[in-house]
Amino acid sequence: MKRVMVVLLVAAVLAVLCLPGAFAADRVGADKCKMCHKVQFESWSASKHAAQTPKVECEDCHGNGSDYKTMAVMKDLAAAKKAGLIIPTKADCAKCHGKDKVPAMTDELFGKVHAHKAK
Ligand code: HEC
Ligand code: HEC
Ligand code: HEC
Repeated sequence: MKRVMVVLLVAAVLAVLCLPGAFAADRVGADKCKMCHKVQFESWSASKHAAQTPKVECEDCHGNGSDYKTMAVMKDLAAAKKAGLIIPTKADCAKCHGKDKVPAMTDELFGKVHAHKAK
């Protein structure tokens, strides 16, 4: 009986480890997002984020993309989030904004993150 429990436990641990998303996704780089999000790519390219060294890239805000960048996953927001997509909030911006010489985050600044958006 004890043996069965141990086997079941090992099987459960292995199953969890094999689930997609159990390991951190890899970074793919802004060029990989460009083909599907040209508008956001262009607004980002012209922003101060792209002018930093190192660049503050898509994936610094939206999470590493290796697991969510396929069309099948991206089309399904819930699946994309499960695969690591982050829709950042103002709290996420505060990692940098409000520190050193980076201006504190406001609603106005938040709305400008993708400059194409009419605000
Ligand atoms: C193969 C095409 C494709 C690639 C590559 C791709 N996306 Fe997407 N993405 C989509 C589609 C389709 C949607 C669904 C919404 C839409 O039509 O814009 C989407 C939605 C999103 C959303 C918005 C989710 C929401 O509904 O609020 C974000 C953010 C996003 N993608 C970021 C990225 C980032 C960052 C990358 C690169 C790491 C990337 N995408 C790569 C096709 C793609
Ligand atoms: C500094 C952080 C940041 C960076 C860098 C960034 N984004 Fe976003 N992105 C956001 C935020 C925040 C939103 C949600 C805006 C909102 O809720 O109004 C968003 C929204 C989006 C959306 C949904 C549609 C839209 O325009 O609102 C897509 C698609 C997207 N980003 C793709 C990208 C891609 C591709 C890159 C890189 C080329 C990128 N983002 C770089 C923060 C960022
Ligand atoms: C990794 C650090 C970092 C993060 C995270 C970050 N930013 Fe920034 N952001 C910067 C830096 C650095 C500047 C440039 C400040 C300057 O020189 O004025 C900047 C500038 C900006 C600007 C100025 C306009 C421009 O030209 O691009 C906007 C808008 C902005 N950030 C929005 C956001 C939003 C919204 C978020 C969160 C979703 C965010 N940022 C997250 C570092 C960051």
